[in-house]
Amino acid sequence: MTPRRWAVTEELDHGQTPATQGSRIDAYVDRYAARATGMVASEIRALFAVASRPEVVSLAGGMPYVTALPLDMVGELVSELVTRRGPVALQYGSGQGDPHLREQICDVMRLEGINAGANDVVVTVGSQQALDLITRIFIDPGDVVLAEGPSYVGALGTFAAYQAKVVHIAMDDQGIVPESLAQTIYALETAGAPIKFLYTIPTFHNPGGVTLNIARRQQVLDICQRAGVLIIEDNPYGLLGFDGEPMRALRADNPDGVVYLGSFSKTLAPGFRVGWALAPHAVRDKLVLAMESAVLSHSSFTQLAVGQYLATQPWREQIKTFRELYRERRDALLDALDSLMPPEVTWTRPGGGFFVWATLPDGLDSKAILPRAVAERVAFVPGTGFYSDGSGARHMRLSYCYPEPDRIREGVRRLAGVIEQEMQLRDTFGTGSVRDHQGVDTPGPDLA
Ligand SMILES: Cc1ncc(COP(=O)(O)O)c(C=O)c1O
Repeated sequence: MTPRRWAVTEELDHGQTPATQGSRIDAYVDRYAARATGMVASEIRALFAVASRPEVVSLAGGMPYVTALPLDMVGELVSELVTRRGPVALQYGSGQGDPHLREQICDVMRLEGINAGANDVVVTVGSQQALDLITRIFIDPGDVVLAEGPSYVGALGTFAAYQAKVVHIAMDDQGIVPESLAQTIYALETAGAPIKFLYTIPTFHNPGGVTLNIARRQQVLDICQRAGVLIIEDNPYGLLGFDGEPMRALRADNPDGVVYLGSFSKTLAPGFRVGWALAPHAVRDKLVLAMESAVLSHSSFTQLAVGQYLATQPWREQIKTFRELYRERRDALLDALDSLMPPEVTWTRPGGGFFVWATLPDGLDSKAILPRAVAERVAFVPGTGFYSDGSGARHMRLSYCYPEPDRIREGVRRLAGVIEQEMQLRDTFGTGSVRDHQGVDTPGPDLA
């Protein structure tokens, strides 16, 4: 068969490997499945390769600060795992995940008020894979998914890959707005568009930095229950709150109406790639089958390593260490924004997690500003990546999880200078046209 059309591929070089050798012509351009058209590389990925240079303060990536882990101890634990339990750790495991780890996961979820049995837990390759499996079992092309606007870029990438139609629900500084949720469900039902699920990050939202308040939690549960809409509660940051006890999970109050997604990426380390889904029985069965068709079984090795860590190490203390470290960084970011940003810029004040969501003055476009910011040695993620409909140009995500507090302050100083210059240009020449964003950014570790 001779291919009819040819295209030059975009190389996905993350700046760490030499560019690939050979032809960049894609001989198979007209052979891809329709769903592959929804998979587009982020336009800003090339900029992030530059942003990872040491002279650039990156307020962009959401990388946990794993240096704060007792790495010697983790090393010993991993080494012992191979020498003592190698034949099990290096063997295939079950599609649902290691039974003992699933018990331990139930202990972790109890901190958020969830009372669940290990039998309803499916261990996944990070919660990102749980998102993929959920979407795989529920979504046909064109099906509707509800999600906050803005929403997690990795979830939007998955929904796009399965050709879902994402409808955004308004969010304010108290989380998703229940009236907006109810109205949207009503409008879609009236239009005859069945909703497959609501995807929500109620606690320490990525990228919004906001948390759904207690009163709204019950309202969201009630609205979805009345309408028969399943809730996917994505909660990787729930234990990283800076004040008080963890919030009660939505799943704690409706076991049949909520699929809960959890992860050890932020409370231990993303390198283990261990996350999970807690689902009603029937959904769990489908998830296990989907898991087996995707990867046969998760890595026994990393599951046992996480299990060993939880069994032998003071993991609650380690989470406290992370919380204190991220609180200090959050304070550094908010103090610097308060003292350095022009008054026309506004931002959220997170009570936990990794992110602040900033809103620029009218007429400024965060994606247009990014190359200038990188030239001034500071990076952020433009807001458009967090919407499936091209909006969000006036917003940016600032993350405080990775840089040291002094670097955060310096980054904000540089960013404030760039924004001030942009405002002057706007005042002199008028507003530029805000470009429409095409497609959905792929998640990529640099955007997580
Ligand atoms: C809201 C949200 N969900 C899911 C993920 C995926 O996490 P992981 O696959 O590492 O568990 C992330 C990662 O940043 C996230 O922020």
